[in-house]
Amino acid sequence: KFSILVAGGGSTYTPGIVLMLLDNLDKFPIRQIKFYDNDKERQDIVANACEILIKERNPEIDFLATTNPEEAFTDVDFVMAHIRAGKYAMRELDEKIPLKHGVVGQETCGPGGIAYGMRSIGPMIELIDYMEKYSPNAWMLNYSNPAAIVAEATRRLRPNSKILNICDMPIGIERHMATILGLKSRKDMTIKYYGLNHFGWWTSVTDKEGKDLMPKLKEHIAQHGYNVNLQMYQHNDASWNDTFMKAKDIYAIDPTTLPNTYLKYYLYPDYVVEHSDINYSRANMVMDGREKFVFGECKKIAEAGTSEGCELHIDEHASYIVDLARALAYNTKERMLLIVENNGAIENFDKTAMVEIPCLVGCEGPEPLTVGTIPQFQKGLMEQQVSVEKLVVEAWIEGSYTKLWQAMTISKTVPSAKVAKEILDDLIEANNEFWPEL
Ligand code: G6P
Repeated sequence: KFSILVAGGGSTYTPGIVLMLLDNLDKFPIRQIKFYDNDKERQDIVANACEILIKERNPEIDFLATTNPEEAFTDVDFVMAHIRAGKYAMRELDEKIPLKHGVVGQETCGPGGIAYGMRSIGPMIELIDYMEKYSPNAWMLNYSNPAAIVAEATRRLRPNSKILNICDMPIGIERHMATILGLKSRKDMTIKYYGLNHFGWWTSVTDKEGKDLMPKLKEHIAQHGYNVNLQMYQHNDASWNDTFMKAKDIYAIDPTTLPNTYLKYYLYPDYVVEHSDINYSRANMVMDGREKFVFGECKKIAEAGTSEGCELHIDEHASYIVDLARALAYNTKERMLLIVENNGAIENFDKTAMVEIPCLVGCEGPEPLTVGTIPQFQKGLMEQQVSVEKLVVEAWIEGSYTKLWQAMTISKTVPSAKVAKEILDDLIEANNEFWPEL
């Protein structure tokens, strides 16, 4: 039986993930669940409720919530990391500062993503170091954002660490694909995909017998994007519906592939800015929606001492985390999309780039599968974007203003070096508590 540490115990996603783990105990037996966060008050809200949820469902599982790294990281097999450096308050600024300059305001794309990356590198490295000190055999399954920059930072700064970076967006989109196709599960499909994190394309979707499912998907996507009318999904509010719909325009520019929805920020930034509200950004929606709901439910459970009547639900889509942990623990060789060093998998692309590609995962870690040569359109876009990610990490390591300005300027979301500098200067001021001195 395994011991799990959730790093970022105070996350709004934590209860859903705990319920998901409790639902999968037959596949992935657990003896202990621990929470770690640097914000005790926030973590306590979630932990007080989760302790009750765990006791009710499986009293044999030990539970501990702590802000002490030694207590947290000792005797752990898997660290599930979903931290948000700066919390939603800083996400709000990541979104609103670029918007003030007429540029896309988004938590992982463009200047907002760069700002968030600069905040996340230090805390992620700290988590890896704690894990290596107190549980050197453990694996870290990381889905903290911005995953692309975090992955590049860990490649540069802790190249031998046992961290695997994984993103839920392709999984979310594949669930929509499965629904479009009338399949029960995304696991009924075999896919080929390549790109960077939040920046990639499917090149093949087949069923288990090898039948090509792309024509049917393309027909739907050309008209409705990835929209499907179901409430069962994690991403099911108006803002996400718009994102899923916009996929039809991303698809239009390259109908040989199916796109990741995040490409809308790079290919249609004008549309995104026009449809953004600088006074009420995504962070505001999440704080007023998910955060209020989850924390409200948690407080009710803690007060009542029971989860009866609670409306928290299993984050079923997060079961990919169990799939990944199982692959490492039981050598299942499951085929999964991970963010790994390219190392020749994409033949005509930077060997040192962190790319998102299918891998077979076993107890030694991931074995990336060969992608081959990619077309000029994707290669051009990816080279531009990977340069942003690499320059951010260099800027963080060297404390270089110039490199961060260059990163900001290269981003496809930013129109000029002048605008890049104006946004950068505002972001420096907003982030002085979090960024290294430049
Ligand atoms: C997707 C992405 C995550 C991102 C999340 C934001 O799941 O893959 O990287 O954090 O969307 O969703 P939100 O509801 O917080 O805007």
